[in-house]
Amino acid sequence: MLLNKGETDYHCHILPGLDDGPSEKEASIEMAAILAQAGYREVYCTPHLIKGIYEASTEQVLHERELLQRELDIAGIGIKLLAGREYYLDEFLLDLIRQPLLLEGTNWIMIEIPAHTSVDLVKDTLFEVKRSGYTPFIAHPERCRLLEMPDKESKRESALKAWLSRISDEKHGNESGNELLGYLIKLGCQFQANLGSRKGMYGGRVKTNARYLETNGTYTHAGTDAHSPDAAREILGFR
Ligand SMILES: [Fe+2]
Repeated sequence: MLLNKGETDYHCHILPGLDDGPSEKEASIEMAAILAQAGYREVYCTPHLIKGIYEASTEQVLHERELLQRELDIAGIGIKLLAGREYYLDEFLLDLIRQPLLLEGTNWIMIEIPAHTSVDLVKDTLFEVKRSGYTPFIAHPERCRLLEMPDKESKRESALKAWLSRISDEKHGNESGNELLGYLIKLGCQFQANLGSRKGMYGGRVKTNARYLETNGTYTHAGTDAHSPDAAREILGFR
């Protein structure tokens, strides 16, 4: 898919006081108003869950979602808040998702892949997620260096890799030359683009990655990944 905005924001840190999103409900309400103005009707609330850093419980997330929805209804802001989380792929993930908070109405688990993790841990963990009956919903793959195209190799090396990759991936629509990305596509993962990536909000490298994933048709969904009213305005072109 192209990086179209649509009516559903699949990734948003809109709930107050749970992670590095807004700390006060007033900012959350302001974010919702901006999203509504941009044409959104539904917003997935996806606070971080990172062991030792952001550890709000599922009950807290659902409770904050409920409270904020009430505020939005009173204020006449036409946004439906949907439950979700942004899980972090590390050695604790499989434990944390024994009872996962799915993206509401789906069997998808939103997972971000940190750049410093190993390819083997990513593969093994996401394979287990899939085997447990869930679909990994990969947050902003363009920001993950493990999923980048090889660009620092010699021409000979990359030509060889591209050739090998084409042979193994031609039936799966991955001509990327990135073996891990090919694996995740075959596994049936979903891939969510951050709208700010195309605008260069995370730098030129991420912008290039986003353009590549968009052109290749890897993305299945898009989201703002907004953490504040100012960020929402910038991502959605209101300033
Ligand atoms: Fe996020």
